[in-house]
Amino acid sequence: MTEQVDRRTFARKAVAAIGAAISAVFGIPAAATMLDPALRSKRARWTPVGTLSTLEEAQPQRVTYEVAVGWEKREVPIYLIRTGQDVLALSAKCTHAGCRVRYADKTDQFKCPCHGGIFSSTGEVVVGPPSRPLDRLETRVTKGRVEVRV
Ligand code: FES
Repeated sequence: MTEQVDRRTFARKAVAAIGAAISAVFGIPAAATMLDPALRSKRARWTPVGTLSTLEEAQPQRVTYEVAVGWEKREVPIYLIRTGQDVLALSAKCTHAGCRVRYADKTDQFKCPCHGGIFSSTGEVVVGPPSRPLDRLETRVTKGRVEVRV
């Protein structure tokens, strides 16, 4: 009888060990694959958004870059404003409630369609309700290519 109990105990432990080994072999790579997009989105990286030669001096130009949100890719609009060899990048997301601002050539301002917020061509608040300027993205120009850090 003691021998049977030992065999059962051994069999249970062997099955548990095999199950753990199978879980480790298949589970760890599967978990890494599922978590990768979420982890990747937390890392800042330089993303190309245009070329310096195509930007007109002091003329905001709308461009987009792609971000991964979970399993989806989303286009994020921003505005690039060239000043000589430098480029200012402004988020197109209104700082009041997140609507998309649009650049108006006639007034040289960014206007928010949701609650009437107005920003200057450098992103400063001209008319509320927004209480802070448009967010700025870090930029760099490498071999004529404009990149933003996102
Ligand atoms: S979301 Fe832009 S003014 Fe409210």
